[in-house]
Amino acid sequence: MNHIILIGFMGCGKSSVGKRLAKVMNLPFVDMDAMIVEKSGMEITTIFETHGEAYFRKLETETLLELADSTEQMVISAGGGMPVQSQNQPILKEMGTVILLEASLDTLVERLQYDNTRPILKGGNLREKIESLQKERKAAYEQVGDVKIVTDGKNFMGIIDEIRKIVEKTTDII
Ligand code: S3P
Repeated sequence: MNHIILIGFMGCGKSSVGKRLAKVMNLPFVDMDAMIVEKSGMEITTIFETHGEAYFRKLETETLLELADSTEQMVISAGGGMPVQSQNQPILKEMGTVILLEASLDTLVERLQYDNTRPILKGGNLREKIESLQKERKAAYEQVGDVKIVTDGKNFMGIIDEIRKIVEKTTDII
């Protein structure tokens, strides 16, 4: 399929960019976390607290497989941990163009400092946590992403234009 899938660390802008990109391209937008919340009837924090991370990851893979089955082209915003799970990587690669959005540590700390919806970041020093998780995930993100966009200092339209050019190019090749 030729979906456009946005991956990257929590707070890098996947959902905000994805929503706008979908509008500009006149495509449906899907936020995987929102889909999981809707399907399970629980908030992400409740899923983690009640059933644990492994259960959440299972729901995440199920959701991905569901989307992989769809024949309608979509813009998909993936949860930050999804591309890190090895079982999801070949599925993602088959689904379309995977765009890695990157934001600096300072930007992420600023965006996530008052957030209480990300159980992975709870407790301890936020900056240190983000930094170590970023390091841990970097290789997986870069391996799964077909292309990386550094978002710092760019506005939404600039990022969207970059993505559209990439998508046009990859569609030409196909
Ligand atoms: C997670 C990222 C979150 C959500 C969950 C776990 C992660 O999505 O899936 O809290 O492990 O990075 P966002 O990247 O959309 O915040």
